[in-house]
Amino acid sequence: MSCFRTDSVAVQAPATCANLGPGFDSFGLAVGRYDVVQAAVAPGGVDVEVTGEGADAVPRDESHLVVRSMRATFDTLGVPQPGLRLSCVNKVPHRRGLGSSAAAIVAGIQSAVALTLDATLDLGTALTLAASLEGHPDNVAACLLGGFTVAWTAGGQTRAVALDVHPDVSPVVFVPPTSLATEVARDLLPEQVTQVDAGLNAGRAGLLVAALTRHPQELLAATEDRLHQPFRRTAMPASFALMDALRAAGVAAVLSGSGPAVLALSTPTHAVEPGRWTPAGWRCLELPVAFGAAAAAAVL
Ligand code: HSE
Repeated sequence: MSCFRTDSVAVQAPATCANLGPGFDSFGLAVGRYDVVQAAVAPGGVDVEVTGEGADAVPRDESHLVVRSMRATFDTLGVPQPGLRLSCVNKVPHRRGLGSSAAAIVAGIQSAVALTLDATLDLGTALTLAASLEGHPDNVAACLLGGFTVAWTAGGQTRAVALDVHPDVSPVVFVPPTSLATEVARDLLPEQVTQVDAGLNAGRAGLLVAALTRHPQELLAATEDRLHQPFRRTAMPASFALMDALRAAGVAAVLSGSGPAVLALSTPTHAVEPGRWTPAGWRCLELPVAFGAAAAAAVL
């Protein structure tokens, strides 16, 4: 008897902004723009249909990231590998620092679990699996849990806590026409940083938890970073020009993940008007803080 559902399942996984300035490889924010994956078990092989963001570039075979993530999840669940039929509707921009690979990985895990009869995967196992596929835990944690997340890895296990964002904080994401792969942006980082810079980041990261949840008036200071953004500046000058201008106007603006998208945290005292700030050729997305893919409401 098959251990899989015979009908299809659909899951959605949100875009995510990682780092948020000082929280390198740890902080993440889920924002309300979703990839949707519809999946069903098929007689054999894989049949992948993709529309939307990245449709012209992603593979349609076993190397498709949603498929790889589903395969890893079936192995973790201890069930045989089935044939698969997938339909992916992508809304998360690719190679912009908005967590498109995390969304694909998380959607793959959630859909594999949903397709498997009587299967459950606790959140910790799902998060550890997602982080191992992604290589860093910040985007996948926000994608799974939603809201503002702080993720860490200890003893080979990835863990995360999700916190509610203060209602005065509204994410505004600026998406440039040009892309940059995360691996390229990571290669720009130094092996070592100074004690002074590490100390500054530790203080700002602590402050950012307070600012995002309770004291939004401190967001500008709380989003200072010395660990990754300065080293990425030369690779994306237009992103930093926008960030610098927003910050000079008092708006807490940071690179979204490894860039080149820019996240601005709009507040009533420092509201971000898209018409004033969006550079020519860029997209401006005013997005709510999002639920994660693990929330019951996110399973369609
Ligand atoms: N923390 C990762 C980095 C996020 O900055 O490289 C990638 O989106």
